Formats: sequence, structure tokens, C-alpha cells
Amino acid sequence: MINTTRFLENLHRLRSFGAHGTGVIRRAYSEPDLASRDWLASQMAAAGLRPHFDAMGNLFGLADQPSLLLGSHSDSQPTGGWLDGALGVIAALEIAQTAQENGGPAISVVSFQDEEGRFGVTTGSSVWSGQVSQEKADGLTDSDGVTLAEARQALGSRAQERVDPSQFTGFIELHIEQGPTLDASGQQIGVVSDIVGIRDRVVTLSGQQNHAGTTPMALRRDAFQGLTAFNALLNARLRNVVTPQSVWTIGHVSVSPNASSIVPGQVRFSMQWRDGDPERLMRMEKVIDETLHEVASAHGLEIELGPLLGLEPVEMDNALRVRLETGAEAVAPGQWRRMPSGALHDATNVARLMPVAMLFVPSIDGISHAFEEDTDEADLVAGLRVLAHAAGVGI
Ligand code: GLV
Ligand code: MN
Ligand code: MN
Repeated sequence: MINTTRFLENLHRLRSFGAHGTGVIRRAYSEPDLASRDWLASQMAAAGLRPHFDAMGNLFGLADQPSLLLGSHSDSQPTGGWLDGALGVIAALEIAQTAQENGGPAISVVSFQDEEGRFGVTTGSSVWSGQVSQEKADGLTDSDGVTLAEARQALGSRAQERVDPSQFTGFIELHIEQGPTLDASGQQIGVVSDIVGIRDRVVTLSGQQNHAGTTPMALRRDAFQGLTAFNALLNARLRNVVTPQSVWTIGHVSVSPNASSIVPGQVRFSMQWRDGDPERLMRMEKVIDETLHEVASAHGLEIELGPLLGLEPVEMDNALRVRLETGAEAVAPGQWRRMPSGALHDATNVARLMPVAMLFVPSIDGISHAFEEDTDEADLVAGLRVLAHAAGVGI
């Protein structure tokens, strides 16, 4: 039988690594991230699994025969919530442990590394799935200029060979919704139909650093003014090509030299956009590109574009999705829905290797990627039960 007390205790134990108020600070390869992975490895061993880190720091708990793979990620955003990723990993662990106590079926567990994109977009599962080569990923940098190759040295002797995906029959990821839909409708479970696609790149605009008192406005090549003009124009123009589901975000900005008496010579910012339709992602890219060039020329700025990172939209596997829907109807009759995922997940990458499916539980007030992120205990447990049902483990 699923042990919900053990499940909730383990979820809170994982929360203690990098705890910060109600949230967590557990970025990929940081000291709390590695400490939490070592603890997870010990829990996997206690559940009868063989813990195994690959060269990216993806942590697998391997069953000794072909099995379903369950899990998510345990790294966090720079300031993140306690459930994003953690829920799927601890639920997987509980189900594997229950399966061991019940004498089957075989269940393997994974906590992917850097899902939260310190080095890009879902980096650990991107490399494992072959979406991005290790060599290419190693050259990616975080916002402080540290390369992935440098950061992953912190793994030390943990890093071992790649796990062969052919031993897994499919992958199911339980996650918090991270949006308002389930909370607003009062429903307990979302069974995911598809995951949106994403594009993400770093843009640098360079002008001329100069004196803020003596440089006439008409002569300035102010990179920050360029960014604000770009943002305003972009918001107006994208509205012509998007749907209410399309989103775009400038989430990281660094202004140089960032001093009150200096006309900023450079801005470096992240430009991210998401949509379920690859064509629309391309149309959005075109608008972004044209607007950047127009603004750069009006403000006398140069443009440097970082690599365009991205993942395509993916549909969930029909058979696994039906197993989740049957479980949802058993656990929460009439209280579930089928829905798309606007957040990205490791499942997108894993879909290159095997059938995948996902399910959501509500996020209170739709808040995530923030310390306030939370979910009612009853909903956490409902998600665990639906996942166990789909995995064929008695609930
Ligand atoms: C994953 O955390 C995302 O950004 O959707
Ligand atoms: Mn996540
Ligand atoms: Mn996240």
C-alpha cells in the first residue's frame, strides 16, 4: 500500500535542502542540489533500486529488469518553489518503494539535472535524450558566465556513463500545474494532452557608454533605451500574430555598467517565447528579429544573438494517457480534466526515446517559480494515487 505519511515526510525532507522561507534555492550543481541528490540516491537504494549518476548529474534509481520510469527533477529556479519537480521525484520514489514491498511491478526513478535551465532549457534530459550533444551543452554558460563543463565538475566521482534508455518501457511525470486552470475550476487532476514548444536566446545590444551629465540626448547610443523601446514595440506587434495561449518573456536583464551617472553602453537580456504551434513560434521569431533590427538602427546599437535554444511541442502517448485518465476517474471521479501544459518539462525530451505521459495537481492561486508556490496536501496525495494507479502499483 502507498504510504502517504512517508511520501509527505520525504517531500518535506527534500524541501529542507536549500530551504529559503517557504521556498527553495537549489540551483543545478550547487551544494544543496548535490546534497539533495546524495540523499535521494540513498533513498533509492533503500527502495531496492541501483542509484546511478550520469555525466550530467541526472540521477537514476534503476530496477534490475525492464521497467516503467517515473520521476521529474529536483533542481530549482534561482528562487523557486518547493514542489516544482520535487513532487514528481518523491512520488516516483514512494511508488517504487511500495512496488518493492508488494513484490512488483519493477519501477525505476529519475531526477533529471538542470530542468530549470541554469544552462539553457531542460539541460539534463536534453543531453540524455540526444536532443543536444554533451559537447555542445558543455559550451553553454549561465548568467554569470560559468560554463556547464565547469559547473558539472562539482559532480566529481559521482559522474558515470549514460543510462541505456532501452530498459524503460515508458515515462510518466507527475508535476504541479504551475498555472491557474485547476485551482480556478476546483478540479483535482489534470491529465496532460500535449506540452507547448519554446524558443529562448540571449540578446546583447551594444551602444556607447558615456557621461550621463554631458552627453546630449540626441547623441546618445543608450542600450537601455534601446531595450525599453524594443519591449514596447514588441508587445504591440506580437499581438497581431499570437493567441491567448502564446507567451513571451524578458526575464533576465543585465545593464552595463549599471551606474546612475553613466549612459548604459550595453544590455544583455533573455528573450523567451512559447506556443503550442511550431508555425506560430516561427512567426513570433520573425517579429522579434525585425523589431530588434529596427530598434537597433534607430538607436545606433549593435546586436549580438546567442544560440537559439528550443524544444518542439509534443503530444503525450495515447495509451499511457488513457491509463492516467482511468486512474484520475478512480481517484477523483468527475474532478479531473484533460489539458495542455504551458510549462516545459523533461517529458518533452524523454518523448524522443519512449512513450511519455504527464499529470498535474493544482497550484494554489496558480503561483509557481516563486517562494509562495504550494498545493493542498489532499491534492498532492491524489496525484500520487493516480500515478500509482497508472503504474500498476496498488493504491
Ligand atoms: C520549466 O520550469 C519552465 O520554464 O517551463
Ligand atoms: Mn518543473
Ligand atoms: Mn520549473
